[in-house]
Amino acid sequence: MKPYDDDILEVLISREAIQKRVAAMGQEIAAAYKDSVPLLVGVLKGCSVFMGDLISHIHIPLEIDFIAVSSFHGSRQPDGAVRIVKDLDHAVEGRDLLLIEGLVDTGMTTGYILRNLQVRHPKSLHICTFLDKPARRIVNVPIAFRGIEIPDKFVVGYGLDFLQLYRNLPYIGVLRDEVTGLKTAQRKTLI
Ligand code: IMP
Ligand code: MG
Repeated sequence: MKPYDDDILEVLISREAIQKRVAAMGQEIAAAYKDSVPLLVGVLKGCSVFMGDLISHIHIPLEIDFIAVSSFHGSRQPDGAVRIVKDLDHAVEGRDLLLIEGLVDTGMTTGYILRNLQVRHPKSLHICTFLDKPARRIVNVPIAFRGIEIPDKFVVGYGLDFLQLYRNLPYIGVLRDEVTGLKTAQRKTLI
């Protein structure tokens, strides 16, 4: 199999820069929730690598849970409906919730989850995202903790995928157009 590196046009955020930013975010979150035991809700699967790193830098008691939604199905285009495919294990009424996203793009996914969690009456509900791509925002979601703002490029790595691949890259990279173009076209014929 071809190594991933051949598919990457540029490294947008290095492993070192990621680690530095995530450590700072962890301290910021610990300070904000110092009088609480927050429940961090990771949005699978894009949050996976970020969430693991992040919680190791939050030095206060906390709990974690995960929610999974289907929205993008591997391509760049949202296919409309967002649907919960794995719900939380915890009851969240009266809890301080912090939603953990790998990336907020159009905001449609985060907006949907936010509305879905709000009606369960948490004490508080805020959003933390590692990457923020504001250029494509459609739904205006309030981001309390933002890692790094990125330009309108399709990125992979550090938990983010293209067709379920590349999540294990230790950096954030931009995929070559040939890779996204070809695979998206192939994918359309498969769905
Ligand atoms: P939304 O457009 O904010 O709803 O983003 C939905 C999801 O699309 C994100 O959580 C990511 O999983 C995925 N996504 C959006 N942009 C990118 C990207 O550049 N790379 C990889 N996944 C992306
Ligand atoms: Mg994806």
